[in-house]
Amino acid sequence: MKGEPWRIKMVEPIPRLSREEREARLEMAELNVFRLSSEDVMIDLLTDSGTGAMSQAQWAALLEGDEAYAGSRSFAALKEAVEAVTGFSHFFPVHQGRGGEKILIPHLVQRRGPYVLGNMHFDTTRAHIELAGGKPLDFLTPEAKDLESLYPFKGNADVEAMEAFIQEVGPNQVALVILTLTCNSVGGQPVSLANAREVARLCRTYDIPFFLDAARFAENAFLVREREKELAEEQIGDIARRFFDLADGFLMSAKKDGLVNMGGLLALREEELYWELAPAVIALEGYLTYGGLSGRDMAALAVGLKEAVDPHHLAQRTGQVRYLAHLLEGEGIPFQKPPGGHGVFVEAGRFLPHLTPEDYPGVALAAALYLEAGVRGVEVGTFMMGRDPETGKERRAPAEFLRLAIPRRVYTDRHMEDVAEGLFHLKRRAPQIPGVKVTQEPHALRHFLASFAWKGT
Ligand code: F0G
Repeated sequence: MKGEPWRIKMVEPIPRLSREEREARLEMAELNVFRLSSEDVMIDLLTDSGTGAMSQAQWAALLEGDEAYAGSRSFAALKEAVEAVTGFSHFFPVHQGRGGEKILIPHLVQRRGPYVLGNMHFDTTRAHIELAGGKPLDFLTPEAKDLESLYPFKGNADVEAMEAFIQEVGPNQVALVILTLTCNSVGGQPVSLANAREVARLCRTYDIPFFLDAARFAENAFLVREREKELAEEQIGDIARRFFDLADGFLMSAKKDGLVNMGGLLALREEELYWELAPAVIALEGYLTYGGLSGRDMAALAVGLKEAVDPHHLAQRTGQVRYLAHLLEGEGIPFQKPPGGHGVFVEAGRFLPHLTPEDYPGVALAAALYLEAGVRGVEVGTFMMGRDPETGKERRAPAEFLRLAIPRRVYTDRHMEDVAEGLFHLKRRAPQIPGVKVTQEPHALRHFLASFAWKGT
């Protein structure tokens, strides 16, 4: 069967806005797509986080949610699912991924040392490391920066460079290592099991805690099954488990592969660390058996975690990403290749070659695509990377992307055709698209809050 592996049971109308209306809305939003109302967006590819559609089984579970403050039945269901899918039995529910980051990272930075190494940290992870006085460092495999290269594991960490750094500063200066599956900021690119094993070995050798950022663990498992020979015959769930088995713990924003609209997990192998963190969880998130989530949210997550590893779901999802990529390829629109798990990352820098990184081509292209087609994507590039808090200097991203992140089980392939068409039209007018200048910038997490104007206006 070629079609989507689900039927649509409830629909949400898509707003229609004229070009003039979109111009007015974008101006009011000061060219920052985060400040648009969703009522003004026709196809929303801002994020795949918390924007998916739940299944009927999840909605059914929701109705049976147990809202007891302590020891709820829904927590027990979640515990059963977490153990079955990840093998971890010590975990805290948290309100979303960054809730877990806030609990774990300051503790390890204070106890061990400032450096937090990874393939490439997500922006909230980077922010939590810096807020804790730590230093986030990315050791991404160099192939990831060559967007045309078909290297299959562009999410891999550069283990040699990591090891050299650990030897230089001393292992006790490293708070932890976080391997992000898939690596979001570089295109939803997978990390191979071989690479995860190497990183785990490195962490064991130097006695450094090894954590996964497992927000997209199922998409990672699906992509490595296709690309890593030794895994070709394995079940997705078993592959995911092999990754979890390597780690001392994981952070998970459940809003992605957990298939829920809100929620997260922080899991730990060691019971001792669980109890060390427990008071902070109670103070910041909630009691240990709810951690900031309603019972019904945990009930839906318990179902979502299992649905996440369904191969039919993952084939449709990655297939839709590839379909959009295939359409763009046909018109010579550059993007990170091969396409990853949760979206297409258009290379705004090459789409708008007359712009420099200081013109923020990803921000400009996001604004232009909204005007053209009512499609909302987002910059993942130099503007999102922000500034080094010590020097105030901008951090240069590996590439200037416009991310088109596809929500799970929400849009059809026909919508992808609308998105592609918007970009085709823009391509013809690319030389006329100006860069943007920043008119207001907050001191941190600037991409969410900044204001822009077109250059030359
Ligand atoms: N880690 C990764 C890899 C993420 O992509 C995100 C969120 C988080 C952690 C934080 O999780 O949002 O639940 O607090 N990514 C979203 C995105 C926001 O659009 O990519 P959260």
